[in-house]
Amino acid sequence: MKKIAFILCATMFMVSCKDQSYPLNAESPNSKINIHFNLNNEGQPYYTVNFNNKTIIDTSYMSFQFKDLPTLKNDFKIVNSIVGTADETWQMPWGEQLNVRNHYNELVINLEEQSETKRKLNIHFKVYDDGLGFRYEFPEQDHLKEVLITDENTEFNLTGDHKVWWIPGDWDIYEHLYNETKFSEINALSKQNNPNLNATYIPENAVNTPVTMKTDEGVYLSFHEADLTNYAGMTLKVDTENLNMVSELVGSDILGGKAKISIPFNTPWRTIQMAEKAGDLIESKMILNLNDPNIIGDVSYFTPMKYVGIWWEMHIGKSTWDLEGSQDMNTFTTGKVGTSRHGATTENAKKYIDFASQNGIKGLLVEGWNTGWDKWISNEREGVFDFMTPYSDYNFEEVMSYAKEKGVEVIMHHETSAAPRTYEKQMDVAYDFMKANGINSVKTGYVGKIIPKGEYHHGQWMVNHYQKVLEEAANKKIAVNAHEPIKATGKRRTYPNAISREGMRGQEFNAWATDGGNPPSHLPTVAFTRMLSGPFDFTPGVFNIKFNEYKKDNQVNTTLAQQLALYVVIYSPIEMASDLPEHYMLHGKVHPAFQFITDVGVDWQQSKVLNGEVGDFVTIARQERETGNWFIGGITDEHSRTIELSFDFLEEGQTFQAVLYKDGKNAHWNNNPTDIEIENLTINKDSKFTIQLAAGGGFAISLKK
Ligand code: NOJ
Ligand code: CA
Repeated sequence: MKKIAFILCATMFMVSCKDQSYPLNAESPNSKINIHFNLNNEGQPYYTVNFNNKTIIDTSYMSFQFKDLPTLKNDFKIVNSIVGTADETWQMPWGEQLNVRNHYNELVINLEEQSETKRKLNIHFKVYDDGLGFRYEFPEQDHLKEVLITDENTEFNLTGDHKVWWIPGDWDIYEHLYNETKFSEINALSKQNNPNLNATYIPENAVNTPVTMKTDEGVYLSFHEADLTNYAGMTLKVDTENLNMVSELVGSDILGGKAKISIPFNTPWRTIQMAEKAGDLIESKMILNLNDPNIIGDVSYFTPMKYVGIWWEMHIGKSTWDLEGSQDMNTFTTGKVGTSRHGATTENAKKYIDFASQNGIKGLLVEGWNTGWDKWISNEREGVFDFMTPYSDYNFEEVMSYAKEKGVEVIMHHETSAAPRTYEKQMDVAYDFMKANGINSVKTGYVGKIIPKGEYHHGQWMVNHYQKVLEEAANKKIAVNAHEPIKATGKRRTYPNAISREGMRGQEFNAWATDGGNPPSHLPTVAFTRMLSGPFDFTPGVFNIKFNEYKKDNQVNTTLAQQLALYVVIYSPIEMASDLPEHYMLHGKVHPAFQFITDVGVDWQQSKVLNGEVGDFVTIARQERETGNWFIGGITDEHSRTIELSFDFLEEGQTFQAVLYKDGKNAHWNNNPTDIEIENLTINKDSKFTIQLAAGGGFAISLKK
């Protein structure tokens, strides 16, 4: 089936090429990636992609279906095509690196239907050394004004049964564990009914993006999208027999389709990253480059920082968000009224503030400070949260002034319980209230099924809500860290107040998931999948790995040394030290390993992936802006392994005082997770050594000039 289609189109390509002379190819600046565009004999657009002179994406068709309008598919003619090139360097206000090079060749094809309707569609390709993006541009035209897209059918026709790291194409949540299977074995429907997910909807065999693959020849591919604006999120429907994927937009029962657009309109970019080394996927900045430059101006009101918070203690069940009824995070049920174990008290906040100020941590998050939590997991979630009114045992002013006195910055928390209309009503005053109290950033949350019923977290309606929050927040000079968000698509370039987000299975699952939590392979997979889309608020730093005094059946499935490594491996401009202050103590003093969390940077001049293999291990080195100090983190899955480290990325003539935090000889994620050794070293460009990582282990190094 697949072969026939290919030969047919190859022939067509020759014919149509004879008939016209428009450029139909574009290649990457280094010539390794080539794309070819054409129309088949029915006038349907398709493209192919070559990588290192081999077809990597075979003939892949494109079309749109609309409500009450004929399909936009066949009968096109090419009326023009334009080629271009660009090479610019821009700076990130905060990020994995300071300077970003945006270097690509582009091809824009102008299409027009030959029939009476003469509808117009442009297809815009940008080809980089590290991959490509293309989008559909609907230019202004007489016969197409406003359309309801019922399907966008963008194909990605694979050339082999690649190994794939995937999560199901859930319309409501990305918090699934990654699966590693052959493409032909993807079975997203088997992931339905996960008891640990508060909202989940997987309508068909599709995957969410970024989805990463490795071919038998060792080429790495990752499919995603860039600049998701006023459109529905894209999942990829999987055809396991023909090794083909087709875009499947997240729908809306209310809209009766996928996305309503007013023309002129540009869709998000459909992106394919390509690399010979797995680590190059992480170093790529293509997704960001496909977004528009910063339009909100200065964001210096936000400072990258580490933070502590009244947070993990609710997840492990020590305390609760609500004042009234002692909710149980495991069962999402409310306990006996009048048995309060409220976490967000004035006194408790002060305890965290003291710990932060004594240990070089800048931020404090307080969850459960405001009224409404007694109903946040109920069926009546509209109108329950009040983003201005603290609980009676939380003296907002007192906490704020104590924090100020101690030099700690408070991070606001707004759990919306997936009732965005309630949030939109209060946003304006809630942000003014924050600013009046000197609060510059907010963590938002969208737990539960979206209200109104029929909308989904990843549909157009919610994409527009998340956008509205970003814009309102930007107007008020507020930075946003969204949980249960829409996926990151590089918008932080345009809106650098989009500092971090969740959108993946975070540390919290280790506290209460009934499936054993995040396995040791989780983060070595996430680094090459979810992390390709942008920063994520994983909240590392649990030192009390087993927390048996709270939960016997749950634990963190890594060593303590790996928890340190995550501050470097995971990129986010905010990094939580998520454990309880008392869990950071050892024999009456702060645990010596906490020094790494105190020292580690959060804003980087440059980042280098030193080694790695998807799902197995990864080592990343990052150089801090301003100080020029380096930090290195390495993590492994359930296999112990030896890593050879060479420091040839350091500058000539520089000597660093280094502290190495590594798994102890008997360390093991399950049997002995807290066995850690700390060593002082002197390091320069010529240094080399090997490090032994325990099963589920890792290492972290700080290198100070
Ligand atoms: C889910 C978030 O991911 C988590 O961090 C937060 O504590 C709860 N929602 C409550 O808002
Ligand atoms: Ca979550």
